[in-house]
Amino acid sequence: MDYQKILNEISEEIKPYLNEGKVADYIPALANVDPNQFAMSITMFDGTQYSVGNADTLFSIQSISKVFTFTLALKYYSTDLYKRLGHEPSGNPFNSLVQLEYEHGKPRNPFINAGAINVTDALVSHYKDEDIAYKEVLEFIRSIADDHTIDSNPVVSASEMEHGFRNISLANLMKSFNNFDNNVNEVVNVYFKHCSVEMNTKMLSRAMLYLANHGVDPITDKTYISTQQAKRINAVMLTCGHYDASGDFAFHVGLPGKSGVGGGIVAVVPKMMGISVFSPALNAQGNSLVGTMALELFTNKTGFSIF
Ligand code: DON
Repeated sequence: MDYQKILNEISEEIKPYLNEGKVADYIPALANVDPNQFAMSITMFDGTQYSVGNADTLFSIQSISKVFTFTLALKYYSTDLYKRLGHEPSGNPFNSLVQLEYEHGKPRNPFINAGAINVTDALVSHYKDEDIAYKEVLEFIRSIADDHTIDSNPVVSASEMEHGFRNISLANLMKSFNNFDNNVNEVVNVYFKHCSVEMNTKMLSRAMLYLANHGVDPITDKTYISTQQAKRINAVMLTCGHYDASGDFAFHVGLPGKSGVGGGIVAVVPKMMGISVFSPALNAQGNSLVGTMALELFTNKTGFSIF
């Protein structure tokens, strides 16, 4: 299959839609991003990459980082992790407080904000220190992306913290239900730091290979998690990776995927490749509008969906 030709076609076909969404504007660092950018990369099991557009441009991975923290927490806590949070879709916006109150402080899944903050809390407990927890998350991302230049943007995380009222509320609500171990501000700070990691689509598509290959990096042969854990993470990505638009993403794209408000999306084609797209303008549910469209075009053109 001529992947480069397919990516080039997609980049032409999405052009008319580049101005349709709305860039995240809850912090200046994200609001100032040029909405007209588009990038798409795929990484194959032998390391071959195909890209189109701004594939070297670093962007804020935001909620895509939740895949990596979920992986680490699952590795350390195994099924005990589900005492703290569930694995069901929420059907609610990613930062909703309402469901958390009804469900006594137990977040529906590790990808809504409450769930991801809870996972970060579990990691801080595991490493017994918030700075070590953050460093280990960053080292894990660098390892699976096989790129040691990856770092977090301190301007973005400081700005997130300044505007973090809702996330701090979610953490306090969980704490009030005794489902939170550590200091709220310290944990939320680690959460914002991992959300503020910057990567490009080449790095992110590479970073998805362990999930496409049962937990084992097909290039370095490193085992990160068990086959069963990789299955679970892919399942939660499919059912919860796009919040209240997860059904829509499965319907149109048909792959496990995870979005971030920075405009990135990662997706996994089992036993074949990792994919990442970037386009900062978002749809109403906070997922990249053109990114989702590009992935739908990709699965339509190649026939590579899990269905
Ligand atoms: O916690 C927040 O609100 C952001 N740092 C991340 C949210 C996010 O990426 C939601 N995804 N679409």
